[in-house]
Amino acid sequence: MKVLVFSTSPNQDGLTAACAGAALAGVRAAGGEADEVRLNDLEVGKCQACDNGWGTCRVEHNCQVKDDFQDVHQRSLEADALILVTPVYWGEMSESAKAFTDRLRRCEATRRQESRLSGKPVIAVAAAGGSGGGMITCLASMERWIEHVGLRKFDLIPVNRWSREYKLLTIGAAAEAMTREWVQARAGAAS
Ligand SMILES: Cc1cc2nc3c(=O)[nH]c(=O)nc-3n(C[C@H](O)[C@H](O)[C@H](O)COP(=O)(O)O)c2cc1C
Repeated sequence: MKVLVFSTSPNQDGLTAACAGAALAGVRAAGGEADEVRLNDLEVGKCQACDNGWGTCRVEHNCQVKDDFQDVHQRSLEADALILVTPVYWGEMSESAKAFTDRLRRCEATRRQESRLSGKPVIAVAAAGGSGGGMITCLASMERWIEHVGLRKFDLIPVNRWSREYKLLTIGAAAEAMTREWVQARAGAAS
């Protein structure tokens, strides 16, 4: 199983990075292949809302703004599952997470047939390292995005400074369980 783990904080050693690390370890512990995508290291600009606002993506299902989005979009389609980890900024996703998820939604949620992400499991993690507030509003907007693109909510996990220790274990366990479910389903289908 191929899992893409999105880490969307500029901090290389903060709470978001620790959560992404726990997710990567969980996938690998269950025998899955896990790749990390650090969105802040890439050029993924915001949606330009081309034309009258609907953009060419409404018909073509690709983004005409040429940057690193195309590669990450393709890798997302090739993955069997996604894990999206964001720091909580103002009770919302980080800007890099928002820019990427906005453009992915426009390309996939506008398809007449179903989204090419449809049915793939996803784990969303909101890491609030400051006041510890805003995790739920952040997860609520991530949940709406998940529904728009047709992913299957495997888990939505809030984490803050005080819950860090046991939530890192939870994230690892969730990633492991998601990977095992997929491996077992494949084995069942083959027998
Ligand atoms: C612009 C900005 C807004 C933030 N808003 C919140 C917030 O609403 N709630 C919270 O608990 N922490 C907030 N924080 C703190 C981050 O969630 C915290 O630094 C978190 O650990 C970020 O992940 P990191 O450790 O990977 O940087 C904010 C930080 C920034 C930079």
